[in-house]
Amino acid sequence: MNQNITKNRRSFVKKFGSMAGMLAMSPSLSTLANELNFSVPSLSPDEDATTNEDYWGWVQQAYSVSPNVINLNNGGVSPQPIVVQDALDRYNRLSNEAPSYYMWRTLDEGRESLRIKLADLAGCSPEEIAINRNSSEALETVIFGLNLQKGDEVVLTKQDYPNMINAWRQREKREGIVLKFINLDLPIEDNKLIVNIYKEAFTSNTKVVMITHLINWSGQIMPAALISQAAKKHNPNIDVVIDAAHSFAHINYKIPELGGDYLGTSLHKWLSAPFGTGMLYIRKEKIKNIWPMFAANAPQSSDIRKFESLGTRSFPTEMATGHAVNFHNAIGSDRKEKRLHYLKNYWMEKCLNIPGFSTQTSLKPEFSGAIATFLIKGMAPGQIGSELFKRSRIHTTSVEWENIKGVRVTPHVYTPLKDLDRLVDTIHAIAKEQPSNTSMN
Ligand SMILES: Cc1ncc(COP(=O)(O)O)c(C=O)c1O
Repeated sequence: MNQNITKNRRSFVKKFGSMAGMLAMSPSLSTLANELNFSVPSLSPDEDATTNEDYWGWVQQAYSVSPNVINLNNGGVSPQPIVVQDALDRYNRLSNEAPSYYMWRTLDEGRESLRIKLADLAGCSPEEIAINRNSSEALETVIFGLNLQKGDEVVLTKQDYPNMINAWRQREKREGIVLKFINLDLPIEDNKLIVNIYKEAFTSNTKVVMITHLINWSGQIMPAALISQAAKKHNPNIDVVIDAAHSFAHINYKIPELGGDYLGTSLHKWLSAPFGTGMLYIRKEKIKNIWPMFAANAPQSSDIRKFESLGTRSFPTEMATGHAVNFHNAIGSDRKEKRLHYLKNYWMEKCLNIPGFSTQTSLKPEFSGAIATFLIKGMAPGQIGSELFKRSRIHTTSVEWENIKGVRVTPHVYTPLKDLDRLVDTIHAIAKEQPSNTSMN
């Protein structure tokens, strides 16, 4: 790596931390770095950085992740860059000087600018963005807030996230709505086929379609825009709810392009915002139809802020989120998506020829990003996960959910290629020891 980078790294991180609050939108890391007299490989704003290891080496140093554990479960929750941690710390300390003054009169003032910043990233109006604590809160606000009657049908999949399925099941039990489950056999590399599977589930009673944009279990990217289009064509009154917990700030898109009416995401995942941050998008004309989960003054108003009557929560956490948006913008959505996909394919391609290795994740960028799930013949996912940790301190998560079984591996922008090489070597060693796989070695 460029020696300049190492030499100036510490002072840059320090200066960047204190200046980040002043920076509304950053065009690129190199522009920022130039202002701060710090050297990162110079890139023009649209330049592809997918395999520029000097550039990603800098990004890695902007985080404070442990070199002693190889964290490949960034799909669960992401670490925050140092600038975000510093901001959170500063806001927390400030709040503790006089909580009700600094939290309610100073920090709270920042919510409207954060709304604008998030809306800019999401490509929608700030009047369509509510700030909350996670995807579960965002999506359950919609699931419980929709006016539905006994017999109304909701189309969803068995591969959706358990919190959402449980929320729908609760409405099924209490109110008699009908759940029409699709069972996906993943991976599917055919958007037409996916759309047709949804279309077959639509009836004249369909009122809602739930779409998980990026399926957490295997990393499959779903053609949300095409499914929304098919639903609206079937009946323009169908409401489309999108779970974007894993797609937002991971793959590059603007929310309105998906054609959904409601979308929820967690900002502590791919945006690397503080833990316990989330966002709800509702198309402007639909806001009045949704009852807030925490009752507000005017629950049937068209003001998106009616979903923010959460009571006292962590204002420092909320306010540090803007720094995570700045950091994300400094890399750029397109660059980030390409790098994340590259990292996934980097290790997967090296594993495909290992005897006994199999995967339920596509390698194509249209159908996958950073998340991939694999299996070694003859072993249970939990067993593989334990071996990865025992041998190489590689932290992953095991998946056994409906049709998906395996170890889920999720790198992030800070993951060095060397860590992925270690993953490949360890998978190789584990697979080799399996009797069923040795004959082919
Ligand atoms: C697809 C999906 N939806 C929703 C969630 C819930 O996210 P949170 O725990 O941040 O509410 C997750 C969490 O991993 C997820 O993978």
